[in-house]
Amino acid sequence: LRGDQVIVVSNREPYLHERGEDGQIVVRRPASGLVTAVEPVMRACSGTWIAHGSGSADRAVVDRNDRVSLPPGQDEYRLRRLWLTPEEEQGYYYGFANEGLWPLCHVAHVRPVFRESDWQCYREVNQRFADAVVSEARSDDPIVLVQDYHFALLPAMVRRRLPRATILTFWHIPWPNSESFGICPWRTELLEGLLGSTIVGFHTPYHCKNFLDAVDRYLEARIEHEHSTVSYRGEQSLVQSYPISIAWPSPEAVAAMPSPAECRRRIGAELDIPPDHRLAVGVDRFDYTKGILERLHAVERLLEKHPRWRDHFTFVQVAAPTRAVLEEYQAFQQRIEALARRINQRFGAGGRDPVRLLARHHEHDAVNRLFRAADVCLVTSLHDGMNLVSKEFVAARDDEQGVLVLSRFAGAARDLPEALVVNPYHVEEVADALHQALTMPVGEQRERMAHLRSTVREANVYRWAGRMLTDAARWRLRERVSLR
Ligand code: G6P
Repeated sequence: LRGDQVIVVSNREPYLHERGEDGQIVVRRPASGLVTAVEPVMRACSGTWIAHGSGSADRAVVDRNDRVSLPPGQDEYRLRRLWLTPEEEQGYYYGFANEGLWPLCHVAHVRPVFRESDWQCYREVNQRFADAVVSEARSDDPIVLVQDYHFALLPAMVRRRLPRATILTFWHIPWPNSESFGICPWRTELLEGLLGSTIVGFHTPYHCKNFLDAVDRYLEARIEHEHSTVSYRGEQSLVQSYPISIAWPSPEAVAAMPSPAECRRRIGAELDIPPDHRLAVGVDRFDYTKGILERLHAVERLLEKHPRWRDHFTFVQVAAPTRAVLEEYQAFQQRIEALARRINQRFGAGGRDPVRLLARHHEHDAVNRLFRAADVCLVTSLHDGMNLVSKEFVAARDDEQGVLVLSRFAGAARDLPEALVVNPYHVEEVADALHQALTMPVGEQRERMAHLRSTVREANVYRWAGRMLTDAARWRLRERVSLR
């Protein structure tokens, strides 16, 4: 694939330019697992990234073709920003993507909302992004990496215009079983759209199986299970699992981080946490799929069951605001805040709260300091495609200390079996795992963490991209040979 042009399409952009209170432009990284994973790949292959320009100062920094070089000051690839009207953003992003597809695919017991007008908007915006791909393409056969549930229709739209393109679509969230998926009024269109891809990728074989089941049930397609391919209307697509990961930190980046003891001291000073307190952390977007409510119940249960932790334990939850325009998200945040207050009233001692809710965005370095300071990291998603917080926690612990408590319903549980794997719906089980983590001998922590670290170091994000691109290269070669 050397020399080929790579075009990434995602809704969320890798950097937002925002206008600060003093009128100055500041650059911010959004809280998004997708961006965390895809950006290092983009830096390595210096292509073009097409995304929605959503920062308040995004327009101020682009050239006349709406492009900006990134990362700021390093100019390794270019971002082409697309502007959406408030109506488009409402219908396509908040509406169909986040009130329809997000709950549909996560099955976290929040009912999906399907509005005809949102669907129309979703189609139109997919077409606009597909047009942008065509206009950015320098040849008739670029490699197009389509990211996530915002663009289920785009692969077929690009395929119609660039029949020779190699289109790799990665679905970053779960794919539900076919009954659950079948309630979507536009299930056929979604499947047809995705089958415009050369490769459709998911995090786990289970999500691939669910997708193939849906194709089998709702389309007249031929599935070859042995090769994991689908033939539909004369085109063939490969359906494969590619577990996503992170870029392993360089030795220089690790050397630049303060030591775990220093991180603990700084966080203790910032948040007034006594040095003898054990520290557990959670780092998520403020999203109902992340199991934050259940996690707080587990913290409460821990304090009920084990009085020794009262006034000797603090739980810090970083919750980055997300999709806050939606009522479901507002209601969720209020419930979390109320529960945290209740626990603090019950168990607060010496004027100190056992639960600290930090409902604001934290930059990467601040999150890393928190990871390095923590005795335990709690990742208890009710359902998650992969979950990269778990892998980032592991990457931050070069001291091989700290315990990861991980939901069995996160794709990451397959990759990280040395974590304490729990059912996040089972409060008692999570409380027990938390206690086990807090009392785990140093030697056992080291053994588990060493395994986890070697897994994430090896199965890093370059391998994720590399495997997908290698499959694509084989496919391309085969097609070229058969065309001769
Ligand atoms: C998940 C999705 C991403 C999305 C991220 C943040 O990780 O898979 O596509 O970017 O959430 O959500 P947001 O709506 O803020 O982009």
